[in-house]
Amino acid sequence: MIQKDVIQSIIETTRVEEVISEFVTLKKRGANYIGLCPFHNEKTPSFTVSASKGIYKCFGCGKAGDAVNFVMEHEHYTYPEALRFLAQKYHIEIVNEEPTEEQIVEQNQKESLYNIYSFAQNYFTDYLFNHEEGKSIGISYFKEREFSDESVQKFQLGYCPGVWSEFTQHALKKGYEIQVLVQSGLTIEKGNDYYDRFRGRVLFPIHNLTGRVIGFGGRILKNDPSKPKYINSPESYIYNKSKVLYGLNFAKNAIASLDNCYLVEGYTDVISFHQSGIQNVVASSGTSLTADQVRLIKRFTPNITILYDGDEAGLKASFRGIDLILEQGMNVKLVLFPEGEDPDSFARKQRPVELKAFLATKAQDFIRMKTGLLLVEASNDPVKKAGLIREVLSSVSIIPDTITRSIYVKECAMLLSIDESTLIFELNKILRAKFKYSNQQDSVESLPELPPVMPTIKQPEIAGDSCEIQELAIIRLLFLFASREIVFNHPDEFGRVQEVDVNVAHFIINDIRNDEIVFENHLYQQIFDEYAFFILNNEFLSDHYFTSHKDITVRNLAIELMSTAYELSENWKENKIYINGEVQKLREAVTSSLLALKAKKINKLLLAVQQSLKNEKDDTEVLVLMQKHKTLKKLLIQINKQLGRIITP
Ligand code: GTP
Ligand code: MN
Repeated sequence: MIQKDVIQSIIETTRVEEVISEFVTLKKRGANYIGLCPFHNEKTPSFTVSASKGIYKCFGCGKAGDAVNFVMEHEHYTYPEALRFLAQKYHIEIVNEEPTEEQIVEQNQKESLYNIYSFAQNYFTDYLFNHEEGKSIGISYFKEREFSDESVQKFQLGYCPGVWSEFTQHALKKGYEIQVLVQSGLTIEKGNDYYDRFRGRVLFPIHNLTGRVIGFGGRILKNDPSKPKYINSPESYIYNKSKVLYGLNFAKNAIASLDNCYLVEGYTDVISFHQSGIQNVVASSGTSLTADQVRLIKRFTPNITILYDGDEAGLKASFRGIDLILEQGMNVKLVLFPEGEDPDSFARKQRPVELKAFLATKAQDFIRMKTGLLLVEASNDPVKKAGLIREVLSSVSIIPDTITRSIYVKECAMLLSIDESTLIFELNKILRAKFKYSNQQDSVESLPELPPVMPTIKQPEIAGDSCEIQELAIIRLLFLFASREIVFNHPDEFGRVQEVDVNVAHFIINDIRNDEIVFENHLYQQIFDEYAFFILNNEFLSDHYFTSHKDITVRNLAIELMSTAYELSENWKENKIYINGEVQKLREAVTSSLLALKAKKINKLLLAVQQSLKNEKDDTEVLVLMQKHKTLKKLLIQINKQLGRIITP
């Protein structure tokens, strides 16, 4: 846990342009910096950094955020990891609460495990390249598998001598303690004897995300049915099988930039793919994927392509496991390999271009494939077909995103030649049952209310008489200029003109509150209320407060509005809210925006009164309404006059 005030000081101290220029070459362009976007391929720079606002935005791919977001996105850090990175850069001390004795012990144990694994990896690699046994057995094995020296080096492969405890003896000689060796699993204790777990095997180190070795997989050299083909390090303080994916440390950047992750089963599949120039690949190491592993991939991409080398029966058995991936909101594709081939053997038989083309053309959407496979099976059997529909819909029902769900429903309706509304009816039944079930369970993490699927997706529209555009203009002024001053000319008691400085946020907030204006858009109201809270309580409001806001919709809106500061949308121009040189004419912008909002609101009231007048039968009521109408009309004319004075030069 990093303390709140430390987070604050990290965000305050951080200079977005300094952080980003560690990764991107930035050139000064006017008030901003500009460079080639690191998040997508481009030849002309559209990646813009605003030092004064503390944000970046790419006008090509739309990625935007503050310095913390940048580090998270670029380095694939979690929020606390990003903060620690920035803290280190700016020499801000993160004082952790005093660690408990237990934590100290655990920390020390972790460190000694990292140390022993790093030592072991060096030893095994050295043994492979520089010892007779390593060369004659290990190297020749890798040659046979067509692993290049480069791959062997990159993946830090190694060989453990076949004599009982040669490695353990060497480690002891170098001062490593026997308890640590045993704890790491590298050494096995039997009575008073010690021997090497991996003796006589070639070794595949398993790395964590930062590239440190946390375990090994060791392969036997000659297939021997009495011995396991692979053995792995036991779990430890630093190695939790269900939270590690083999190869992720090598793959993470490629996964993020290609926005897809290939999932294979084995170490050798990963290595062969790298040799074929495919780097966005990880292995589950023969087990089915855990939720934690899916979340790990999700940090880099929502798209996963499973490379499956078994038969159809095995594939059907794995459907349930795949549902788990859908449940995490991932898009799942499948590639089936020709019989008898696994990704490794297949990759070695193809040229890299062919392999890439194969993957691209064979990748099929999971739900589509599942539907297709089951459909073949059910062909003309209506009972089977009903079961299959439920089976497919159960996968669809797991998808958290409503829109994606409705797209699948449409597609399945077509594939199964069934009415879409029937499928929606069935799907909603499943969803309701699930919801009920989770409520009965009274689980802490009960499912959110699942909205029923709509047959067609409607884009939200801004109704003609909505005030949202005018409201947004006010919010935008707050984001951009809250801390600025505007100058008013006021006659003093002797009639002499005096210049009075007023803070923009103060002015807007007081004006809106005086007229008791309520925003129609809830998000804008929420932001306005937050501003009002700061201003009315005289609280310090950091310039970065909203671009670093904890609520992502608020944050995105702030970034969006602040980065498009000088682009006037057609809509806004039409409304004549903005005039050129906004900064110079800040006072006019502020007052005219407020007037425009009021004019719109009054206009709305006027229309409502007119409507009532049409329907009103009671004569006195009609008189009252007419009076109201007159007042509003006068007010509107007055406001429009003021607006006109400002806008027409
Ligand atoms: P090669 O035979 O060397 O090509 O290995 P592979 O990667 O093709 O192996 P396979 O497809 O048989 O298994 C995939 C993954 O499952 C391996 O990379 C291992 O992580 C794991 N695995 C395979 N066999 C065993 C075993 O006997 N024990 C354990 N613990 N894991 C195994
Ligand atoms: Mn294989």
